[in-house]
Amino acid sequence: MKENSFLEGQKRVMITGGTEGIGRSIADNFLLSNSQVAICARTKEKIAQAKDVFPIAEVVDLSDLSQAESFSKKVVRDLGGIDFVILNAGVHGVPIGEESTEEKFKREAHAIRVNYEAPFVISQSLRDDLKKSKGVLVYMTSQHAKFDPSKVPESAKPYAISKRKLEEFFTKFAQDPENDGILVIGIDPGPVDTKLREEIRIKGSAELSAVAQRDKDNKVLKDPKLVGKIIYKIVTERADFNQGTGGYTKPIKSGDIVRIDEHYLQ
Ligand SMILES: NC(=O)c1ccc[n+]([C@@H]2O[C@H](COP(=O)([O-])OP(=O)(O)OC[C@H]3O[C@@H](n4cnc5c(N)ncnc54)[C@H](OP(=O)(O)O)[C@@H]3O)[C@@H](O)[C@H]2O)c1
Repeated sequence: MKENSFLEGQKRVMITGGTEGIGRSIADNFLLSNSQVAICARTKEKIAQAKDVFPIAEVVDLSDLSQAESFSKKVVRDLGGIDFVILNAGVHGVPIGEESTEEKFKREAHAIRVNYEAPFVISQSLRDDLKKSKGVLVYMTSQHAKFDPSKVPESAKPYAISKRKLEEFFTKFAQDPENDGILVIGIDPGPVDTKLREEIRIKGSAELSAVAQRDKDNKVLKDPKLVGKIIYKIVTERADFNQGTGGYTKPIKSGDIVRIDEHYLQ
C-alpha cells in the first residue's frame, strides 16, 4: 500500500476493538503503512493472537470506564504521544432470550457505557495529546443515530440512543474552541458483515433478526476488509471520497460525519 504524505513518518494509532470486524481491518491498514498500532478488546484468546502483530494489544473491557481511561493513558505513555484515535468498539446490546426488568436495564446501561460513555471518557483523557500532535479522532456511528427513538424497536433502543448521543457529543466537541487542532470525523460504515450483525441475526428478537437475515440474504452487507480500507483512506488522506475524481480529495472539516454508501465501493 502506498504511503501518503500525511503518513510520512511513523504514526501512533489507538483503535478500540481492533481484534476483528471493521476495527481489525483499519488496524491492518495502519500496520501496512508502518504505523505503531495499539488495540484492545475483551476476548483474551484474540488479544493473545494479536500480540504477535501489534506492539500493544491489551485485554480491556470498555464498559469499565476506569479501564477505558487507563488503557488510553498507557498507549500515550508507551507510544510517546498519539496521532490517531479510532473509537471503533461497539455493541448492539440485543436482548438474549427472556430477561427480568433488572437484566434489561443492565443490558441497556452496558450498551450505553461501551458505545457512548467510553468514547466520551477516552476523548477527555486524550484531547491534550491530540491537540499537541494535531491529530485525528474518529468515532463510529450508525444510521440508527438518526432514527426517532420512539419509533425504533424496543430491543434496538440502547443502540440507537447511544449512537445518537455519540454524534451529539462529538459534534459539540468539534465545535468547541478548546479542541482546535483536532480533526474529528464521524464514520457511519453502513451495513457490514461482522460479529455485531451476526449477533443480531442469531440472538436478536424475531423482528430484528428477520431484518438482519434479510440484509444477509439480499447481500447488502459489505466486506469489513473493504470498509476498513475505505475508512483508513478517509482518515489518513483527511478527505472524503470524491465521485468526480474517483479519489479521496473532497475536503473534510472537523465535525463532519461520513456515511459510506455503495459509491465508495468501486
Ligand atoms: N457492522 C455494521 O453493520 C455496523 C453498522 C454501523 C455501525 N457499526 C459500528 O462500527 C463499529 C465496529 O463494529 P463491527 O461491526 O466491526 O463490530 P464487531 O465485529 O462486533 O467488532 C467489535 C470489536 O469491539 C470489541 N469490543 C466489543 N465490546 C467491547 C468492550 N466492552 N470492550 C472492549 N472491546 C470491545 C470486540 O472484541 P471483544 O468482543 O473481544 O471485546 C471487537 O474487537 C461499532 O461501533 C459499530 O456500532 C457497525
